[in-house]
Amino acid sequence: MSSLAVLHASQVVTLTGPKRPRIGAEMSELAIIREGGMLVRDGKIESVGPSDEMEKNVGDAEIVDARGRSVMPGFVDAHTHLVFAGNRLDDFERRARGETYEQIAKAGGGIWSTVEKTRAASERDLLAQVKKHANWFLRCGTTTAEAKSGYGLTVNDELKILRVLRQLKEEVPLEIVPTFLGAHAVPRELSPDEYLDIVVGEMLPRVTAEKLAEFCDVFCERGYFEVDRSRKILSAAEKHGLSLRGHVDQLTNSGGAKLMAEMGATTADHLEQTDEQGIVALKKANVQPVLLPGSVYALGSSRYPRTREMIEAGLAIVLATDFNPGSSPTPSMPMVLSLACTQMKMSPAEAITASTVNAAYSLNRGDSIGSLEPGKVANFAIFDCEDYRELAYWFGMSQAYSVYVKGECVSRSSGL
Ligand code: NIG
Ligand code: FE
Repeated sequence: MSSLAVLHASQVVTLTGPKRPRIGAEMSELAIIREGGMLVRDGKIESVGPSDEMEKNVGDAEIVDARGRSVMPGFVDAHTHLVFAGNRLDDFERRARGETYEQIAKAGGGIWSTVEKTRAASERDLLAQVKKHANWFLRCGTTTAEAKSGYGLTVNDELKILRVLRQLKEEVPLEIVPTFLGAHAVPRELSPDEYLDIVVGEMLPRVTAEKLAEFCDVFCERGYFEVDRSRKILSAAEKHGLSLRGHVDQLTNSGGAKLMAEMGATTADHLEQTDEQGIVALKKANVQPVLLPGSVYALGSSRYPRTREMIEAGLAIVLATDFNPGSSPTPSMPMVLSLACTQMKMSPAEAITASTVNAAYSLNRGDSIGSLEPGKVANFAIFDCEDYRELAYWFGMSQAYSVYVKGECVSRSSGL
């Protein structure tokens, strides 16, 4: 494999620091090297430092001149629903007319309408749509994405979605971390308990036997999976060796955060309605919150999670897109950074930490990605800005100039 020497960057945002998720004031420390450089060999980071020092060891490496630009770890998007068929344009328009997410779901839109389309799609058609989505992520500077099933809701359709993800890994450079979300909704044809038996008795054993997922997730919510049923599913998943995540307290404060703490989950996601007690429980159990402002924004709500309280409580916050056709149709982590700073009052530095190194830890990959440190995988992006804060400041456009996975350029913007 080849070597690269990235030189003369106005900032190399390394996020060098303790080998664990960052909390409190640590979230503001990005360990930036001005006029910096980085040497990459065989897909790994060899060294990072001042550009003039790096220049001494260039050897036969290909030189990448990053003058006037910033180099950062690739974004790690720790919550996406990457695989679905079609879109939800009708829901979008109904919401614009004032209907709520729950009203639209009851009237035949919502998750269920995507389930019907996804069931009807062949593996080949799904793969074609998902490849298009995966390339959107790369273009925005994301190099790793967690991806959930959840729009199949039968044994065969859930397996189909997870197999599409496995195939996707072979065909696009975006790194994928698969999550089983069979418990995304109760299918129309079954009662909640009948479906729970299928998730636990049939889906989980098949998913784990075929090693199709690393995590199990559940939509813990009134009308979806109440706390007791969520607990049963997560307990079964744990016995199968999966790590746990959960959609909790998104629409109502139903004790979801506490459940994730009780289960020792890796993450508790959404948390828009979580109160102080929920925050205390997450801290005690060391659960990482995954905050998803894109879905709050796109649903037209203003109820963002209590982010500053979470940071003050010492939670290792993660930011993610929640990319999905219903509540958050964006693959853009820079858009999420903008929302985090303007709506949740995170600083740009905190938002960068939450979307790189903290996100990597939340996917059990903190030792290999999420920061630019020697020995880590060379997943990084060069952005067309001199100061990392510009990423959150300019919004509605991509500043990604070039994106690298394992030291290979996988996306380059044209026309800059
Ligand atoms: O994270 N809350 C549940 N799941 C998604 C929405 C899925 C959909 O509407 O299709 C979410 O917001
Ligand atoms: Fe989600």
